[in-house]
Parts: sequence; C-alpha cells; structure tokens
Amino acid sequence: MPDSGAASKLYAAVHAPLAHDSAEKHVAGEALYIDDLPEPTGLLHLHVGQSTRAHAGIVRLDLSAVRAAPGVACVLTAADVPGKNDISPIMGDDPMFPEAVVRFIGQPLFAVAAETLPKARAAAALAIVEYEDLPPLLTIEAAQAAGSTIEHSQVMRLGDARAAIAAAPHALSGELAMGGQDHFYLEGQVALVVPGEDGDLHVWSSTQNPTETQHLIARTLGIRDHAVLVEVRRMGGGFGGKETQSVHYAAIAALAATKTGRPAKIRLDRDDDMVMTGKRHAFRTRWAVGFDAAGVLRGAAFELASRCGHSADLSIAINDRAMFHSDNAYCLQAAEIVSHRLRTNTVSDTAFRGFGGPQGMMAIERAMDAIAWTLGKDPLDVRLANLYGVSGELTPYGQRVTDSIALELMTELAESCGYRARRQAVRAWNAENRWLKRGLSLTPVKFGISFTANHLNQAGALVHVYTDGSIHLNHGGTEMGQGLNVKVAQVVAHEFQVPLSAVKISATRTDKVPNTSATAASSGSDLNGMAAQDAARTIKDRLAAFSAQEFGVAAEQVVFTPDGVRIGDLETIGFTELVRRAYFNRVSLSAAGYYRTPEIHYDRARHQGRPFYYFAYGAACSEVVIDTLTGENKVVRVDILHDVGRSLNPAVDAGQIEGGFIQGMGWLTTEELVFDAAGRLTTHAPSTYKIPTAGDRPDVFNLAIWERGENREATIHRSKAVGEPPLMLAISVFSALTDAVASVADHAVLPDLDAPATPERILRAVEDVRRRAGRHV
Ligand code: MTE
Ligand code: MOS
Repeated sequence: MPDSGAASKLYAAVHAPLAHDSAEKHVAGEALYIDDLPEPTGLLHLHVGQSTRAHAGIVRLDLSAVRAAPGVACVLTAADVPGKNDISPIMGDDPMFPEAVVRFIGQPLFAVAAETLPKARAAAALAIVEYEDLPPLLTIEAAQAAGSTIEHSQVMRLGDARAAIAAAPHALSGELAMGGQDHFYLEGQVALVVPGEDGDLHVWSSTQNPTETQHLIARTLGIRDHAVLVEVRRMGGGFGGKETQSVHYAAIAALAATKTGRPAKIRLDRDDDMVMTGKRHAFRTRWAVGFDAAGVLRGAAFELASRCGHSADLSIAINDRAMFHSDNAYCLQAAEIVSHRLRTNTVSDTAFRGFGGPQGMMAIERAMDAIAWTLGKDPLDVRLANLYGVSGELTPYGQRVTDSIALELMTELAESCGYRARRQAVRAWNAENRWLKRGLSLTPVKFGISFTANHLNQAGALVHVYTDGSIHLNHGGTEMGQGLNVKVAQVVAHEFQVPLSAVKISATRTDKVPNTSATAASSGSDLNGMAAQDAARTIKDRLAAFSAQEFGVAAEQVVFTPDGVRIGDLETIGFTELVRRAYFNRVSLSAAGYYRTPEIHYDRARHQGRPFYYFAYGAACSEVVIDTLTGENKVVRVDILHDVGRSLNPAVDAGQIEGGFIQGMGWLTTEELVFDAAGRLTTHAPSTYKIPTAGDRPDVFNLAIWERGENREATIHRSKAVGEPPLMLAISVFSALTDAVASVADHAVLPDLDAPATPERILRAVEDVRRRAGRHV
C-alpha cells in the first residue's frame, strides 16, 4: 500500500474491504509463528509424559531412568511446582501435574526438558508408571447415572412452559445428540520462555489470553505478575482452543525455564495436541414443544446435558450460553431450559467458536422441522411464523429483543436464492430419483454479543505517535487470523485520517496493555476498536488544543482530513508537520485508551438480565444431496445473508462468514470424535478425523453481507461482531440433510439423525425412517 495517493487515502477509512495485514505473509510463509522464531542459545525442548489411563490412582511414578537419559536437563512433576499446582481459569480444579490421581487419557503426568526434542521424547518413554484403575465415567449417560457434575444443574424459566405445552393444540418431543469438535488450528499449542534477570520471564505463547497466561504462570511459580511478560504476535488459529488451554503448556515451559535458568520451548505434536487438549462439548438435548395449527409455538422445554470432561475449565459459561441460545431466533412464549453439566474422565472440554451457542440452537431447529412436517407445512413458513418481532418480546433470560432483523434477512434470502421454486424442484426431483434424495433448508442465526461474565467486557489500548508521523498501535486483543489487527488499525488510521500504512500493528504484550480479557466471544473489535479509538482521540484532542492555541482558533475548528489537519479556514498543515510542532512544544504524543461495554447486567442466580449488548443475525439456505444406499452426501449449494452492522472491513468479514460456515459444516457432518471403551481418543490425526477440505466447499456458494446492516447500539462505527455467529449458519446443512432423510418416507416420520451426520449415521437414519414408516425398498 503506497503512502500517498487517492487510493490509499480512501483505504485508510473504516468500512473499506482491505486485505488482512498479514495475508501476503501468510501465503508466502513469511508470517512468524513461535516455532519460526530464532532459537535462543541453550534452548531446551520439552516433551510431556501422558497418562495412559482415564481414571486411576498413581501407585508408582519412577522417573529415574528418564532423568538419567542422554541430553536430559530436568524432569518436572507435581512436586516441582513451587507455587499453586493449578492452571484452571476459575475453579481451582486443574492441576498442572496430578499428585495422586489421573483423570483422563492424555493428562500431562510429567515433563522432560532435554537438549533436543527427540531426546526428550525418548527419555519420556523410559518412565515407569504403575496405576490402580478406578472406574472411569466416559459418557454423558454414565456421568448422569453417577451424579458426576462440575456444578449443580441450572434452570431458566419464562412462564409455565410445561402447562403451555400440555394445553397447546399440538405437542411434539424428541432427543438430539451432537458430538464435540477438535479445533484443528494449523499451529498447535506452542510456547517459548526465555528467563531474564531476577527470575523474570519473557513468554511467547500461542494464546488468545496473554493476561491469564501471565497470571497463571506467576501463580504456579509463586512469583508476582510483574515478573512475567507474555507476548503474542499472532496465532495460527485459536477458535477458542487457546482461550484457556494454551496456558497449561506455557506454564510447563515457564517452570522448566525457571528450574534450569535456560530458555525452554514446548510444541505439541498434532496427535498429542488432539489427545491432550479440550474440545467443543458434546451435548444431548431432550426437547418438547407445544404449538397451534399454524405452527406457532405456545411453549418449549429443553433439557440439555453436556460432557465437560474432568475439570470445569470454561464449561459453566459455555453451558450458560447453550441455554441462552436454546431459542435461537424464535420467540418461545413460555420456556423451561434445564442444563446439566457432567464431569467425565475425558479431556476437559473448552471454548470453541460459538461457545455452546451452536449446541444450544440445534434442538429448536430440529423442532421447527418436526412441527412443519407434522402439520404438512414448509419448514421455512414455520420458522418465519415463530421469529422474534421487534416489539420487545422476552427471551427466556428476561432480555427484551428489540433489534431482530431475522425476518427481513430470511425473507430477503428466500427471495434471492429462489427458495420457493427450489422447494418445488427438490420435491419433483425426489419423486423422480429412487436412490438419491435432495434436501433444502433455510435457517436463521441470532447470537448474543458480550461476554456473559460481565467483568470481561472491558479493554485497553496504547497508541504512540512518533515525530515522523508514524503510529505505533497496541491493544489488548490477539490476532488469530480473524483480522482483528487490521480492523483496529483502520479505526486508528480513520481517527487521524492517515493512510493505513502509517499505523504499525504490533504484538500484543502484557506490559503494554495490562489486565486484558481473552480475545473471545467475538468481541475483539467491539472492545479493542473502541479502546484504540479512545487512545487516538486523546492524542487528537491534545493536538487540537495545541493547534487552537498556536493559531488562535477554537479547538473544534481543527479538523483531521485526508489532506492534512485543517486549522479553521486559515490553512491545512500536514499531519507529520503538526506532530513535529506539537513535540517541540512539549505535547505528549502517547496515550492509553480504555473501553467498557455499557448497559449490560446479569443476575446469574436467577438467570435474568441483559447479558447481551446486542444480537448479531444471519440466515443461510443449504441444499444437499444424499445417497440412500451408502449415506454419502454433498452440500451442493449454499446462500448466505449475514448481518455485520456497518462492516469495519467487508473483505475480512466475508472471510469470517465463509470460514465460520465451513467450520460449522465440518462439526455437523464429517468431524467425528470417537473414544474407545477405555476412554482413548481414536480419531487423533487427520487420517481419521476429517475436517472439510477445499473439495467440500459447496460448488455454488453465494455469500452476501447485509447491505442495510447498522448496529443500533453505539458500537465501533456501528459494526457488529462477526467471529462466531456464522458458524451456526451451518445448522442449515444439518437441517437439509434431515430433510433429505425424511423425504424417503415423504416426511411422515421424523428422522432420528444425530450430529455429526456422517454417512454411517445418514444411512442408519434412512433405514430407520423406512422401517418406521413401514416402507420397503
Ligand atoms: N478466525 C480465524 N481465522 N481464526 C480463529 O482462530 N477464532 C474465532 C473467530 N474467528 C478464529 C476466527 C473465535 S472462536 C472467536 S471468539 C473470534 O474469531 C475472536 O476474534 P474476534 O473477537 O476479533 O472476532
Ligand atoms: Mo471464541 S470460542 O469465544 O474463542
């Protein structure tokens, strides 16, 4: 990007479709990830010894051969942790290394630091571990039977749903199970720690949460926060998997560096990463709905149960969000939402794009299909009839919905994708084709924006203007590929009306902006964009006050324009010139900025309040084809209309919408986590765990950002968060697959199709539908 000229001036603005700041570096392989950094002299490499039992007492842990192995510098166990042996974000139930009992297969038992990684790995294999097996709880059902939970069950209520369902003209109920999902970030968990003076540590971690990494390293080592500096230039993807779980590995590396006084690096192999780190929560939901002859809900009840794994991690908030989104975009009228959070002897499940929201929405979408097929209606009509209006209807958690644009989005999308005609065409095609069946579905997304833990909704930024007019930008958010940095840089360039190239994007560091929240809940640009704007405005105000004094005009008459700073109608001086003059007159050119989201509150004990500042909306229409002889299936066409308010950067947002959709499609179709009877993850490599590939992208993929989008709340330039909501657009794929399966018996019976809808599950569901409908092939 050139520094001057009309084009770059235009592109300095917000709302411009700029490329990701690292796009070229990403494809050229020049973007630096932690494993690309030059290795410091004396670097030690870490390998983690894992538990091979899902639940067992540690009878004997003999590491003498490990210690004596060639190249080994130190071996770390629970006994070596000088501070608190806990890396949990909240609940204090996540030991860095277990002391007496192992709780899942893959749990870090000890770590070896050696001169090379192969030496560390070879040494770790010499460990002698004797276990005394305890009964493991591996499934939701087993944990429920044993009463094993991470907290007591939660209930959210609006009116009397059970009575409303009982009194309704029609009622339906069902059960839906859905699997978890591996994050499959391209860069796995990795950290590099370099010890400095006085026990200080400089930590490079691939983390969404530098501040928590800092805190927990300090806590495990028994040192102060100020001794730990955490730096993150970028992640090769996080997707929620580095919101808490990265901390464990950074803390192990920090312990090794502290013990040995040498730099230490930890980098999990893909297979280890998949076995050792938490995933999206698997859920099983029971649902019941009461409705009238038009298909309009009178009430709905949901009983959610999730597999949380061996510790709480973020499961409490994740399950809360599943409850918040049980209504998706529909007014339930009366609702009862019960949520069980099961503790199991599996890896501790964690944040994953949507944060429980996707699992929460699945049942109501199944119910919409079921209602339509029962009444002989088009599912789209049932969905449209149940959407929230704009009159302030109540969600089950007492927030009034006043910003719903789902009806407009769905109507517009149905029109543009030719839904009605295609519904006819699908029906005709299915009548003619004996073995292949098509399915079609158009579903909405309504996703609440804000962290539901209120205190996390704050952010800071730091802006320096140098005397040559170049700008250093730092903020508390982290870049994981989502384009946060370019968006925040656009905000700052816009404030000063300088070309984007004048703004240097710098690594997130805990010594520049302290006490930050994880970059999560899709709130990165909402929060950090505002904080950076605040910092830039402080400097702008100082420059304006200085100019006013210098030139004898009112401060309001000093205006920043792409051509320079206009001083009333006296003259226009270049930004750099003004900055230089301000410096010589001793005006500070550096400022910290801060932002906190207004108006949100939540009473968790009652599950009532306004947890969300606003909602993001979208709609997707998917068409699929299945082979009823094999279960093989393909998504043939997708149309998406998504609301991002006034987009800060439509190019980046389109990427988020497409990527989110495809990731959601993977969750609901091909990505299957299979644990064996002992609790061992058997799908721990790309050979057995199938994420979507380029070939799975639908041949016809029409994606549009809603042009009339505008956030009614005063967010950064009226934009809306985009990181997570599009993932749930993929529920349209699952619903379309269900539609195709149901078509084998003319929608007379509701398919019992769970997620992921793998070919095996589709085949079984087809056969089951045929059997229940009494149809023979
Ligand atoms: N996009 C890319 N390319 N890589 C990621 O890791 N994470 C998602 C989403 N989009 C992710 C991504 C998740 S889980 C969240 S919460 C948001 O980005 C976080 O960034 P934001 O708040 O800046 O949108
Ligand atoms: Mo995203 S799951 O909130 O990191």
